Amino acid sequence: MKVLIINGSPRINGNTSVAIDELVKVFAAEGVETEVCQVGGKDIRGCIACNKCAELGHCVFNDIVCELAEKFEQADGLVVASPVYYASANGTLISLLDRLFYSTGFDKSMKVGASVTVARRGGCSATFDELNKYFLISGMPVAASQYWNSVHGREKGEAEQDAEGLQTMRTLARNMTFLMKSIALGREQFGIPEKEPWQGTHFIH
Ligand SMILES: Cc1cc2nc3c(=O)[nH]c(=O)nc-3n(C[C@H](O)[C@H](O)[C@H](O)COP(=O)(O)O)c2cc1C
Repeated sequence: MKVLIINGSPRINGNTSVAIDELVKVFAAEGVETEVCQVGGKDIRGCIACNKCAELGHCVFNDIVCELAEKFEQADGLVVASPVYYASANGTLISLLDRLFYSTGFDKSMKVGASVTVARRGGCSATFDELNKYFLISGMPVAASQYWNSVHGREKGEAEQDAEGLQTMRTLARNMTFLMKSIALGREQFGIPEKEPWQGTHFIH
């Protein structure tokens, strides 16, 4: 069982890393393999709506998005963690997620998703909603914790003092593990739900 974790912060060993480290410890104890990719400091362009991905099966820009697509396809779960910038996720991370989710045709349904937000003070729940939307449009069940997944801190390392935030991370990793294991069992026993061909209407016809 494997979880891909995307860290949207540009700060190495910042507060988002503190939150992720807490998840990784619990995943390791539960026997779940993790891979963390930090993307916030990388040069990642946004989607240009060329729709070439529909022909190619991958994004026209052959960069980290294509690398992460392969890792995502192999994973049972995806965690997206971001610092809060103006009550939203880090912009580089959003560029990556738009392209990652839009350009990949593999079936994401029943891979478990979880988002984590990190802020000095405000905007966590707006960012949490923003990130969860990528999962929920893709048939991905979202793992729950004991609170909306947020950790607080401003300067690097301050998040270590947020006892409730870190507990929320530990609970999230345990619940996500349970959900991934339950889905694996359900897949064996019942198969995953049938999918109808997409019926796209664009409110014009
Ligand atoms: C451009 C920018 C915008 C920010 N906007 C917010 C905000 O809206 N709300 C908030 O509480 N903190 C905000 N912060 C603070 C960061 O969310 C906070 O320092 C966080 O711990 C950074 O995580 P990191 O160390 O993983 O990068 C902002 C920081 C930056 C650089």
